[in-house]
Amino acid sequence: MKLINKKNKNYIQVFQLFTEEEWIKKNKSFNKNISTFFTGKKNEVFISASEDSITYFIGLGKSSVQSFEIQQVAVKFSQTQKNNLKAVPTLLMSDFISQKQFEEFIKGLLLGTYKYPFDKSHPFWSPEFEIHFENISQKKLDNISQKALALSNGQTACQEWLNKPANLKTPPVLGSYLKDLAKKHQLKYTVFNRKKCEELGLGAYLSVNQGSAYDAAFTILEYRTTVKKAKTIGLIGKCVVFDTGGISLKDHQNMHYMKSDMGGATAVIGSLIYASEMQLPVNLVVILPITDNAISEKAFLPSDVITAYNGKTIEVLNTDAEGRMILADALSYLAKNYKTDLLIDLATLTGSSVRMFGDTCGALFSNNEEVKNLLLQTGDRTNQRLWNLPLWDVWKEDIQSDVADLKNISLKPIGDCIVAAKFLEQFIENHPKWAHLDIAGVTFGSVGYAKEKAATGFGVQLLTDLIENYH
Ligand code: BES
Ligand code: MG
Ligand code: ZN
Repeated sequence: MKLINKKNKNYIQVFQLFTEEEWIKKNKSFNKNISTFFTGKKNEVFISASEDSITYFIGLGKSSVQSFEIQQVAVKFSQTQKNNLKAVPTLLMSDFISQKQFEEFIKGLLLGTYKYPFDKSHPFWSPEFEIHFENISQKKLDNISQKALALSNGQTACQEWLNKPANLKTPPVLGSYLKDLAKKHQLKYTVFNRKKCEELGLGAYLSVNQGSAYDAAFTILEYRTTVKKAKTIGLIGKCVVFDTGGISLKDHQNMHYMKSDMGGATAVIGSLIYASEMQLPVNLVVILPITDNAISEKAFLPSDVITAYNGKTIEVLNTDAEGRMILADALSYLAKNYKTDLLIDLATLTGSSVRMFGDTCGALFSNNEEVKNLLLQTGDRTNQRLWNLPLWDVWKEDIQSDVADLKNISLKPIGDCIVAAKFLEQFIENHPKWAHLDIAGVTFGSVGYAKEKAATGFGVQLLTDLIENYH
């Protein structure tokens, strides 16, 4: 796709964007019969053919339409019209959309080309597909196309890895992808295998990995800007490539969904790709504790007491509460070894958050008011919404153990996503600006490009928007 400022061709393809109000104002200048079919409502598409061109009338909805909704319209248009569209110079007409809205429309066109397995056969990926738009300077258009491309590279990578079946994303396969990614973007890449993790004392992470047929891969990726005095953000993504539950085995009914238990990691990978491609003026330290949660004779057992990286002991009462184990060590390793201005972990952590919020939002926990508000606002803006839940100390009582400092689950059937967050808080080593995002309900769900549940890309735009605006 190319964005071009000039209008100098005989177009055979035209996209005309209208809100309902704009359509009422402008429809007089079109064949009056069109109004029988098209009113400008959100997601409405009317195709009109003349002798020498095809015009797509695209409805954006009310004039109060938000930017993320314009992206939604473009995603849907891109998905549903794929077979009608052609890779030809295309005129985009709209007198009223702002630069930001235009940017969201372009992003949506590219994001809507995603399907699993991803290939770039969609007409929008062809170099012959040019969008001509006069109202924005070429310099600004170049910036918009760079952003849209970086975002779609990040988000499609996120979706692709989440959608892959478990046998195609074993820890070594994912590891070699990350190594190549690091090389491509000059990221510092470090990985600790089982032996190294033992030396370092990453016991909580290892407890989950010990039952795996695959070696440990506690992975650290670092993106550094050359800009001086830039902020540093620590990002952690739960990366359980498949969660069987371990010895506390899950029910078979929905177990296949557990290939999505790396949704925290894929969101982080997507935003790392964006930051690297855009060369954002920020430093990122990313930790992905990679493993599966397997059932095997070496697997950890309910009743095991293990020592985490920060020295705290944990009584394992349920091996299916493995996410909090691996995140515990990732959090304390990052907090102890790196100086960061902000520490965020994302995880498909609990069924409890799914039961509470469904696919409407992620559960947010933070020890800092400013960080909490920043994330809530960013979530609203990107429509990757979050809702804040408490971290009150009363919740700690339920994870007190008789034989260790903590137990990994509460034995009460209430508020597990809060309990899990409270557990994680014991491992942040007093970091003053920490947030935990439980995204179990929003990562994998109904999407426009697949019949069954699939990767939504949740978290990528939330994080990229946050990182881009965090100075
Ligand atoms: N990966 C799951 C959480 C999950 C559930 C993600 C549904 C996506 C959809 C996590 O490891 C898990 O198994 N959590 C248990 C914890 C329980 C044993 C305390 C859960 O929530 O049931
Ligand atoms: Mg589990
Ligand atoms: Zn899990």
